[in-house]
Amino acid sequence: MGELSRIGVAIDTDLLEQFDELIARRGYTNRSEAFRDLIRGELVEEAWTKPDSPVVGTVTLVYDHHVRLLNERLTDMQHEHYDHVLSTLHVHLDHNNCLEVLVIKGKASEVRKIADSLISTKGVKHGRLTVTTPGTHS
Ligand code: NI
Repeated sequence: MGELSRIGVAIDTDLLEQFDELIARRGYTNRSEAFRDLIRGELVEEAWTKPDSPVVGTVTLVYDHHVRLLNERLTDMQHEHYDHVLSTLHVHLDHNNCLEVLVIKGKASEVRKIADSLISTKGVKHGRLTVTTPGTHS
């Protein structure tokens, strides 16, 4: 964290109570940390809307490995984007299902495109992309 600045915020009492309840449910022990996380979250969201922003995404996929050629198809797609796919975790969930978590780094538009193509592949039962930025904000 860089240099700290202290700010005063005027806020409606009811709204503040709701905020305190919310952050207590989420396990925050002080408001400052909750405010900082909210601000960082908004900055990540903002970056995500700009196609050229550098982002890191994690893609979670669940698929049935018995679906013919699906495993190969997903692996081929990852090799096509080897310069963006940083890491892959494969878990054999049960007899039929595999879980894969991929870490993809690149411009927002590239990460979204790769994630969409993986998630929309026929046979993938569930897929989600979560995005963050490479830590340029303290
Ligand atoms: Ni598996």
